[in-house]
Amino acid sequence: MKFLILNGPNLNLLGIREPDIYGRRTFADLCAFIEATCRDEQIECELYQSNHEGDLVTKIQQALGVFDGIVINPAAYTHTSVAILDALKAVGIPTVEVHLSEISEREEFRRFSYVSLYAFETITGKGFEGYAQAIRTLKKKLNRN
Ligand code: DQA
Repeated sequence: MKFLILNGPNLNLLGIREPDIYGRRTFADLCAFIEATCRDEQIECELYQSNHEGDLVTKIQQALGVFDGIVINPAAYTHTSVAILDALKAVGIPTVEVHLSEISEREEFRRFSYVSLYAFETITGKGFEGYAQAIRTLKKKLNRN
């Protein structure tokens, strides 16, 4: 089983950006956490982070026929990107959406997620652990199919 783990804009600044919201652990820490989870679950994974919407769209398009599942934290594009939603719908790969913070308890504009219109599950407010939950949820779903 092969998963693509996508992270959107500014997540590369974890540890520096708004630590009261996102914590003090860095993006490198997050990558190591995700890789360790995938190793434990015997899942092959590729991690990709970009600050550019089009690059994320291209990466999703290129996932077709290569990856069995996608875990995505689209970051700010969550709330704006029809293009990322359309790319996910186009490839039809089972997807779980993750957010480190509890987006339902923040500003009004963070309450709506385009990606949620496609993702079969959205995990919010669990920090790094949300990615581990997403990976395990995706694995269970694919094993059931
Ligand atoms: C985020 C929440 C988004 O609203 C925000 O723009 C992010 C990170 C999260 O992980 O909590 O960049 O996706």
